[in-house]
Amino acid sequence: MIGMAISFSAKLNRIPHYAAGAESVDAAEPTHSVAMLASNESPFPPVQGVVDAVARAAGSVNRYPDPAARELRKALAARYDFAPAGIAVGNGSCEILLAAAVALLEPWSELVYAWPSFSMYPHLAGITDAREVTVSLTEDFVHDLDAMLAAITDQTRLLIVCNPNNPTGTYLPSETIGGFLEQVPDRVLVVLDEAYVEFQTVEDPDTSLELLKRFSNLVILRTFSKVYGLAGLRVGYALGSAEFRQAVDTVRQPFAVNHLAQVAGTEALRHRDDVARRAEWNAVERLWMEEELAELGLEVAGSQANFCWISLGERDEAETMAALAGAGVAVRPGGGLGGAGFLRVTYGTRAENERFVQTLRACIA
Ligand SMILES: Cc1ncc(COP(=O)(O)O)c(C=O)c1O
Repeated sequence: MIGMAISFSAKLNRIPHYAAGAESVDAAEPTHSVAMLASNESPFPPVQGVVDAVARAAGSVNRYPDPAARELRKALAARYDFAPAGIAVGNGSCEILLAAAVALLEPWSELVYAWPSFSMYPHLAGITDAREVTVSLTEDFVHDLDAMLAAITDQTRLLIVCNPNNPTGTYLPSETIGGFLEQVPDRVLVVLDEAYVEFQTVEDPDTSLELLKRFSNLVILRTFSKVYGLAGLRVGYALGSAEFRQAVDTVRQPFAVNHLAQVAGTEALRHRDDVARRAEWNAVERLWMEEELAELGLEVAGSQANFCWISLGERDEAETMAALAGAGVAVRPGGGLGGAGFLRVTYGTRAENERFVQTLRACIA
């Protein structure tokens, strides 16, 4: 046998393993019958107009995509009435997060974020060797903004607020975020990660964009992966300063966003009514799920997203996961997300949600 003489970077030891959503379900279960409630995806395919546009564009993928994604950035600029120079697009918003870390963080510098929050944030420290400072959520599972302010030091370069927060679904109003931003030194770049913002119903999802007019150190991150149902194509975007866009573009490969993703994103922006309908549908499922879980006597964090964070109390997380997997229901165990004793469950179709609740009811009985 040939021995491996290569030494990989020590950084690898700091980068957490990313567990894909369906890993929790028995591999023998055929994927089409599994209720995929583990990855906060849309249970619906993209709208037909987007599918058609992608099909038409497939014939020209012998060419490299536009490295500047001009059409998509122009469409985003029109949608948000925002200067295209400050709009970055990425291979999913994850790519923009990773690029922001590379562009901003040095090994001596600090990155502040809440915990539990999006499982990608620890990667940002891992790939840059920066020091990560995590701030626990409050008892109500919301960002503890005062504690986050107190965690800022002279070394802090990047701070992330995830709103609604993944995995808890909790939401802070834009006014509260604005009050927080007033106190953050303007040398600290703040990423407001709004991957799920279209699902929140307490204020117009565009309210937070007003903050961009007041804070030059703010970047708002959004994605086509969730409410638009384009997770498989990988396309997300950031609204911020032209300097931020240039910095993330500098550290990435030039053709980061593929042609089909650019076309799909541009077309998706023409179907805002469908987005609104899907957000409304999600709000109905959210309410239904909350009522069902309350009947089971389970506590749930107040969600404004397309998923919920359920406390299992005394119940065993691994046993509950096994029962769900046996019934072909994939959800996320809280233990893997920074909150043992919880489940994170994405709202699927009503039939999938019913399968989840029935299985849980049987577990509890
Ligand atoms: C909070 C948050 N931000 C960003 C993303 C990344 O989304 P994408 O890279 O698909 O745009 C996710 C995906 O689950 C997320 O939960």
